[in-house]
Amino acid sequence: MARMMKVAIVDDEADMRQSISQWLALSGFDTETYGSAEEALKGITADFPGVVVSDIRMPGMDGIALLKRLMGMDSGLPVILITGHGDVPMAVEAMRLGAWDFLEKPFNPDRMTELAKRATQARRLTLDNRALRRELSDGTVLMKKLIGTSPAMDRLREDILDLGQADGHVLIDGETGTGKTLVAHALHAVGPRAGKRFVTISCAAWSADQLARRLFGPSDDGTIPLVEEARGGTLCLEDIEALSGALQARLLTLINDQGTPPETRIVAICNEHAPDKTVEDALRPDLYYRLGAMKITLPPLRARGEDILTLFTRLSEQFAEEYGCEAPSVTAQEAAQLLQAPWPGNVRQLVNIAERAVLQNRRGSGSIASLLMADNEATGPQLTTEGKPLKEYVEAFERMLIDNTMRRHKGSIVAVMEELCLPRRTLNEKMAKYGLSRADYV
Ligand SMILES: Nc1ncnc2c1ncn2[C@@H]1O[C@H](COP(=O)(O)OP(=O)(O)OP(=O)(O)O)[C@@H](O)[C@H]1O
Ligand SMILES: [Mg+2]
Repeated sequence: MARMMKVAIVDDEADMRQSISQWLALSGFDTETYGSAEEALKGITADFPGVVVSDIRMPGMDGIALLKRLMGMDSGLPVILITGHGDVPMAVEAMRLGAWDFLEKPFNPDRMTELAKRATQARRLTLDNRALRRELSDGTVLMKKLIGTSPAMDRLREDILDLGQADGHVLIDGETGTGKTLVAHALHAVGPRAGKRFVTISCAAWSADQLARRLFGPSDDGTIPLVEEARGGTLCLEDIEALSGALQARLLTLINDQGTPPETRIVAICNEHAPDKTVEDALRPDLYYRLGAMKITLPPLRARGEDILTLFTRLSEQFAEEYGCEAPSVTAQEAAQLLQAPWPGNVRQLVNIAERAVLQNRRGSGSIASLLMADNEATGPQLTTEGKPLKEYVEAFERMLIDNTMRRHKGSIVAVMEELCLPRRTLNEKMAKYGLSRADYV
């Protein structure tokens, strides 16, 4: 499910609430406000798609009590607490109870934005992983989740199956939203480690000190260090490019001490946030060499045009089923717009557009074009789309049309021949060309 990350702000003082909310909204966050802890507990449930910023001193239930309740409900929820000046003991207590971090009043708005950014990033990772873990028991389910028939996707499937069986560490890189986290889970689930733990952490979401404790211990709250928890399974290190020099050294020691084949497999994910800084620059050469021996680079969506319409069709059908309504049908013009969009957010952005298109269709208003436009405005100036040959657009559209029509007629060749005015032989040839098989529709 596509999600927009939220920031819930809890403060009894209306002015404070408003100014925090305005500031975060200006920085691009989706905010919601609560005047008390009691009210917040009504609005925030487990799997809340976002993070919480709360004042500590409030009449009625205070911020610490709220933190305890929230941790009891969802211990992976980042809660940022606002403390009064000099309230150090309280801040220490809050961290022990599982607070994400704290802000001291009067706070610096830039630090607030920075914290909210890191916290929402970590939250999204937690939620992505939770959703995937529900499917983790079965590797074939995850493989089926990978939609796309482009040569790049076929190669990716083969790579996952091959590397899934292998023992070495793996490095995954690619632009945001291209499927890196999904592929990391699939690698684990299709291989011999499937019955063991898949443990994941973002190297960018924690301070170097917090990260060191979580990975190697000793922890503040008595939890087992992640390297122990992952023993025999997979340790997935997201945002590996953010790993500090000291931790790179410890990780290397861990890798060297393991021998071959390694007991724990490390899957490192590089999120290319800064295109001028590659993972090779960020990691010390000996570590890069160990991690990057097997590498999977996920292609950006705009580079595999033929998958765009397939993904859109499949995803909107899934959402339509989820919401109990019809999937929108795509006109030729809309298909061209989907194919030409720059997709800076890659598949994640497409998932999001497909969901919104289904909801829009249910209301009977709006167009795919307006969704794409709104998205492009929100993400600011765009890269220009690399030109694609006309043939590619035509083929992608033709494939989508046959796929949709076959689906609607539940695999009845005769009905599809009639609707598309195609002789049987041509239809068969085209289906073979596009890798469509009648059996999939019956
Ligand atoms: N080939 C695919 N078929 C279907 N869904 C996909 C595919 N690739 C990615 N997705 C979906 O797109 C979304 C983003 O994928 P994922 O979280 O794995 O990307 P990511 O590269 O880890 O992104 P980020 O850099 O933001 O962490 C998820 O909802 C995922 O299920
Ligand atoms: Mg990811």
